[in-house]
Amino acid sequence: MGELDKMGEWTFITKKNQHVPVLLKVKALKDKKGEIYGYLGIARDITQQKLLESQAKLASMGEMIGNIAHQWRQPLSVISTIASGVKVKSEFNQFDPEQIFPDMDTIIQQTQYLSKTIDDFRNFLRESKEKESINLSKVVETALSIVQSSMIDNNITVVVNLKNNGLLHAFPNQLVQAIINILNNAKDELEKKSDQKLIFIEAYAKDNHLFIEIKDNAFGISNEIISRIFEPYFTTKHQKQGTGIGLYMSNEIVTKHLKGEIKAQNCKFKFNNKMHKGAVITITLPLN
Ligand SMILES: Nc1ncnc2c1ncn2[C@@H]1O[C@H](COP(=O)(O)OP(=O)(O)OP(=O)(O)O)[C@@H](O)[C@H]1O
Ligand SMILES: [Mg+2]
Repeated sequence: MGELDKMGEWTFITKKNQHVPVLLKVKALKDKKGEIYGYLGIARDITQQKLLESQAKLASMGEMIGNIAHQWRQPLSVISTIASGVKVKSEFNQFDPEQIFPDMDTIIQQTQYLSKTIDDFRNFLRESKEKESINLSKVVETALSIVQSSMIDNNITVVVNLKNNGLLHAFPNQLVQAIINILNNAKDELEKKSDQKLIFIEAYAKDNHLFIEIKDNAFGISNEIISRIFEPYFTTKHQKQGTGIGLYMSNEIVTKHLKGEIKAQNCKFKFNNKMHKGAVITITLPLN
């Protein structure tokens, strides 16, 4: 019956030759006998949404380049130190070929690490055309590999506890992106703190749904703003630090692409015999 009801993204060209991206829904109109006598189309202008998507993408690419630069600094300096050492030793005729093996092993190990970081980022940037079956643990692992260096830099301990490793049918990078945005927010708040900085990533299944909770101990989100944090461009950060699209994007991905829900709450919890206060973002996804 509904086989002619179609929905898709199109570009309308106006008389002034402006290109407008639209979401077009087409419905077949049928008479009493079920014969088609016409079509009804509704086009929604999605210029704004497209703009937000490309801004979010640019922001995360910028962030990623920063992360690559960061992850590369250390191994590059190790390699360069070894090379200078070998050069100096041979200049002073102190070069011992036997000694060089462990150094060469270190270089090989470091270059393998460099190459792995490129793969991680390239896989992440690759537009997945088709949905894939992917385990939650893989999603969390990828998200962590991308933000790891800034977590270490900020002395943040990330505790992962996945009680359910849900098998998801999704565009893998989208959920990774949604989680990265949440982790980055927790990091931004934790940066302001001096004592123990914690992030917990937990997952469990209940009533045929997968619950993913990302919790921090950065004192939480003030009640005046908590209802607005998923709005596009809502931010409490300085212009250079935030544009306010992180959570908007996470919300779009979870609700529109994964047919799930996302919510933010404040919480109190005990860890290592100490009470902590923070925010918890919960993503709920349907499991089939
Ligand atoms: N874990 C958290 N703890 C406290 N406040 C938070 C937390 N996560 C988000 N917020 C608040 O929600 C606001 C909106 O978050 P969102 O990620 O959408 O934008 P942003 O982080 O400000 O900017 P962007 O993500 O675009 O760089 C933040 O500015 C911050 O005030
Ligand atoms: Mg953010």
